[in-house]
Amino acid sequence: MGRQLKFEIFRFNPAKEGDVPRMQEYTLDETPNMTLFIALNRLREEQDASLTFDFCCRAGICGACAMVINGRPNLACQTKVKDLPAHITLHPLPVYKLIGDLSVDTGVWFREMYTKTESWIHTKKVFDPAKEEERMDDAIADEIYELERCIECGCCVAACGTARLRDDFMGAAALNRVARFVVDPRDERTEEQYFDIIGGDTGIFGCMGLLACEDVCPKGLPLQNQLGFLRRKMGISALKDIFKKK
Ligand code: SF4
Ligand code: SF4
Ligand code: FES
Repeated sequence: MGRQLKFEIFRFNPAKEGDVPRMQEYTLDETPNMTLFIALNRLREEQDASLTFDFCCRAGICGACAMVINGRPNLACQTKVKDLPAHITLHPLPVYKLIGDLSVDTGVWFREMYTKTESWIHTKKVFDPAKEEERMDDAIADEIYELERCIECGCCVAACGTARLRDDFMGAAALNRVARFVVDPRDERTEEQYFDIIGGDTGIFGCMGLLACEDVCPKGLPLQNQLGFLRRKMGISALKDIFKKK
């Protein structure tokens, strides 16, 4: 027979007048191969229809189900309850706007950050659909593909001490996104232009480098390498600027 699981779940509906944040307890019998996706759906179907949480793909692809599971941000659909103790606490991701209970709006945060970092290819070339596609070196294409694997789940930002202290800090996901354009030969931005975007303490120099972001990334993105790469690049750019002014 499986264990009896005790869930403590954060409850709060900011849209409901008079509602107060609280933890609510539920119990559920564990079944083989149970994920948190299955457990939460059973709780909602069998015990409490008001429980709010997000899921979409159930396959670790959409990023919607990220939440804080026993103190650590992770994807609920990829978390097997057999890997957790029988007492499970669930909180919504911090940093993002709370919609209700375990559901947060990561979309607004990511849209703002990607707008600030100008997260698109900057080129003066006019697109000609009749022209043959430009070739790209395989190694660079692989590097870009690796950085594009981010599913915007928000775990790295939720785990980041700096992002939790200051809401203007870009966070690892946005810095990783910038790195993706820095390595892309089609993007014609100069080092100075990148410096203007990420060269301050809201960007790469605000990062404390303790790498909680990489520890929790469910897709295993090489965030440590990218943060180091940008720090070196922006540091060199700042030094060049100092010597130019002398
Ligand atoms: S290394 Fe930087 S971005 Fe990553 S969690 Fe720490 S402060 Fe945040
Ligand atoms: S870098 Fe990793 S943890 Fe951060 S949003 Fe992307 S997939 Fe999620
Ligand atoms: S439901 Fe899509 S990543 Fe979990």
